[in-house]
Amino acid sequence: MFTSVILAAGMGTRMKSEMPKVIHKVCGKELVKWVIDESKKAGAEKVVTIIGHKAEMVRPAVEADAEIAIQAQQLGTGHAVMQAVPFIKDYKGYVVILNGDTPLIKAETIEAAVEYHKSQGNSATVITAELPDATGYGRIVRAADGAVLKIVEQKDASEEEKKIREINSGMYVFNADALVWALSKLTPNNAQGEYYLTDTLEHLREDGKKIGGYTIDDNDEIRGINNRVQQHEAEALMQERINKQHMTNGVTIVQPSSVFIGAEVEIGSDTIISSNVTIMGNTKIGSGCVIEMNCKIENAVIADNVSITSSIVLNSEIGEGTSVGPFAYVRPGNKIGKNVKVGDFVELKNDVIDDDTKISHLTYLGDSDIGKNVNFGCGTVTCNYDGKDKFRSKIGDNVFVGCNTNFVSPVNVGNGVYIAAGSTITEDVPDNNLSIARSRQINKSDWKGNKYNK
Ligand code: UD1
Ligand code: MG
Repeated sequence: MFTSVILAAGMGTRMKSEMPKVIHKVCGKELVKWVIDESKKAGAEKVVTIIGHKAEMVRPAVEADAEIAIQAQQLGTGHAVMQAVPFIKDYKGYVVILNGDTPLIKAETIEAAVEYHKSQGNSATVITAELPDATGYGRIVRAADGAVLKIVEQKDASEEEKKIREINSGMYVFNADALVWALSKLTPNNAQGEYYLTDTLEHLREDGKKIGGYTIDDNDEIRGINNRVQQHEAEALMQERINKQHMTNGVTIVQPSSVFIGAEVEIGSDTIISSNVTIMGNTKIGSGCVIEMNCKIENAVIADNVSITSSIVLNSEIGEGTSVGPFAYVRPGNKIGKNVKVGDFVELKNDVIDDDTKISHLTYLGDSDIGKNVNFGCGTVTCNYDGKDKFRSKIGDNVFVGCNTNFVSPVNVGNGVYIAAGSTITEDVPDNNLSIARSRQINKSDWKGNKYNK
C-alpha cells in the first residue's frame, strides 16, 4: 500500500513555453499524466500532485486522477513535499516520491523499489542510477556497508564527492511517518537557500533510522525532461516502447520509426500498420485491419478487417470490412457501417451510413443519414449549409445516385430511388421514384457553325 507524491510545481524555463513543463506531451500524453498512470499501475492507492507554476493550466490534466496540493512559491523539493503533508500525516503506508517531468519511469520499477524498501526494513530508500556523467545531480554518499549516508547536491559537493557516479534520481520511497517527521526538521541552510528533500535522509540517519539505495539498471527511466530536445528523445524512447508492445501483441508494424501510436490506443492482432501513420487519442482498432501509408487516425473506433489508406479519420466509428481512402477525410461524428466503401477524395462529416453503401469518389456528405446499399456516383454533394444554419438530409436504402448530384438539405429521399445524373434535388423523393432535376439538353442545327472547324 502506498501513496505517491508527484512534484510538478516547477516552471520548466528551458522549455521556452507559455505552458508549464509538466503538461507538455510525450506520445500524446502529458508528462505528469504518464507519472500518475504508472504510479497507479504500480498500485498507488492515492496520488498527490504538487502543482504551483501556472497551476490552473496543470489542474485539468491531473484533477481526474490525482489529489492536488498547491505550492504557491517554489522554495525547494523539500518544501514541495511539505505541501503533501495534509494527505499523509496519519497515513500508515509508504510514500513514493516521483517527479512530474520523468515520464519514462515504469510501474515495475516503482513496484520493485517499494518491495526493496519493505524487504530491507528501511525508513527511506532513494532510487539511484550509475551515470557516466553525473554533473548536475545529487551524489549518493554511501557507507562501507552500503547504507546511504547522505545526498550531496552538485553545488554543495566537495571535489571528492563530485567524482561519485551514483546519483539521486529524485525518486524515493519513505515510511510516511518518518517522512513527515524529517520534513519538519528541514532548514534552507545550503548553497541554493532551498529546503532540500534530500536532507531528510541525513535527519533520519542521525535519528538512527535505516536509509537504503535502490539502483535501477535502465537509466532511461529517470530521464527528466527540461527542454524540447530531451522531450523528443523521451518521445522516441516511449514510441519504441509502445510500438514494441503492440508488436508483441501481434500487430505488424512495417516501419516502426515512422509510426506514432498514442498511449491509450488499442489494436487487435493481425492488423498491419505501414509507414507514416499516426494513431492518437482513444482509438480502438480491431483485428485483421490494414492501415496503409500516410494516415492520421484520432479517437476512432475501427472494427475488424477495415482498410484505411492515406486518409484522415477523426472521432468516428467504422464498421467491419469497410475500406477508406486513398485520400479520404473522415471528419468528426460519423458512424459508418459494415462493408462500406469510402473512396478517394471523399469527405464525410457527421453522417450515419448504413452497411454496403458505396461512396466511391469525389463526394462530400455532411449531416446526412444514409441507408443500406446506396451507390453514390462521382461528385455527389450534400448542400447542408445555407450560410447560416446546417440541415440534415436522409437518403433511404438501395438508392442509386447519378454523378454530379446535389442534395439541397433538408431533403428526404425514399428507398429504391434512382436519381438522374446532374440533378439538384431540392424536394423530397418518394420511394421507388426516378427523379430528374436538371435542365433539358437542346441541340441547335441552325447555328452559325463552329469557328474552330474553319
Ligand atoms: C533534485 C535533487 C537531486 C537529484 C535531482 C534529480 C534535491 C535538493 N535535489 O535536484 O539530488 O539528483 O533532483 O533530477 O531535491 N520542484 C517543485 N517545487 C520546488 C522545487 C522543485 O515542485 O520548490 C519540482 C521541480 O518542478 C522538478 C523536481 O521538483 O520536477 C525537481 O526539482 P529540481 O529543481 O529540478 O531539482 P534538482 O536541482 O534537479
Ligand atoms: Mg532537475
